[in-house]
Amino acid sequence: MKVLRFADVIASGFATGKRVFIRADLNVPQDDAGNITEDTRIRASVPCIQMALDAGAAVMVTSHLGRPTEGAFKPEDSLAPVAKRLGELLGREVPLVANWVDGVDVKPGQIVLLENCRVNVGEKKNAPELAKKLAALCDVFVHDAFGTAHRAEGTTYGIAQFAPIACAGPLLAAEIDAINKALANPKRPLVAIVAGSKVSSKLTILQALAKNVDQLIVGGGIA
Ligand code: 3PG
Repeated sequence: MKVLRFADVIASGFATGKRVFIRADLNVPQDDAGNITEDTRIRASVPCIQMALDAGAAVMVTSHLGRPTEGAFKPEDSLAPVAKRLGELLGREVPLVANWVDGVDVKPGQIVLLENCRVNVGEKKNAPELAKKLAALCDVFVHDAFGTAHRAEGTTYGIAQFAPIACAGPLLAAEIDAINKALANPKRPLVAIVAGSKVSSKLTILQALAKNVDQLIVGGGIA
């Protein structure tokens, strides 16, 4: 699969001084007090963010956290613990911005984390009016949220339809490369092992895999 990559956009010089909107997957587990118990997803998102900063872009990053009710923000929905951890990893403060759909104040060389995108009305069902507003925030949309790439929501899909440029971040691009390598010309017999608890979202993947593999082994909730 051929996709436009953020690295190519940067190499062209287009991202410099521009507004770059990164959709990351910072949906990390937390304990009852809100402390992050595992930060792999935040660490995995750093290379894309650092690329954008190094390119001199005005950087906006957002993610969902949990499955909040749209239009009804609660303290536990906040990305505040993520902003703190991301700031530690980047070695700079990461301001958290709420109510950002109608405009974000961020300058080239700066970064802001936009509060839980799933609180915005229309995110889950990919409402076109929301998608257009999201796209208007940026010159470049970067999808780097592999863990959420299967969902057609406002910040994962709708924004890409209207943004001037939409491209894949390094995390997403690496996953696409890995899948292509595994499925394009594999050594046979080819066996796929798929597990997980969220069965409904994996059925289409299983159907696609079943056409390509010699054996398909399912585990977890799927089994
Ligand atoms: C996950 O944790 O599996 C991803 O962040 C996607 O979350 P979701 O299933 O709530 O969309």
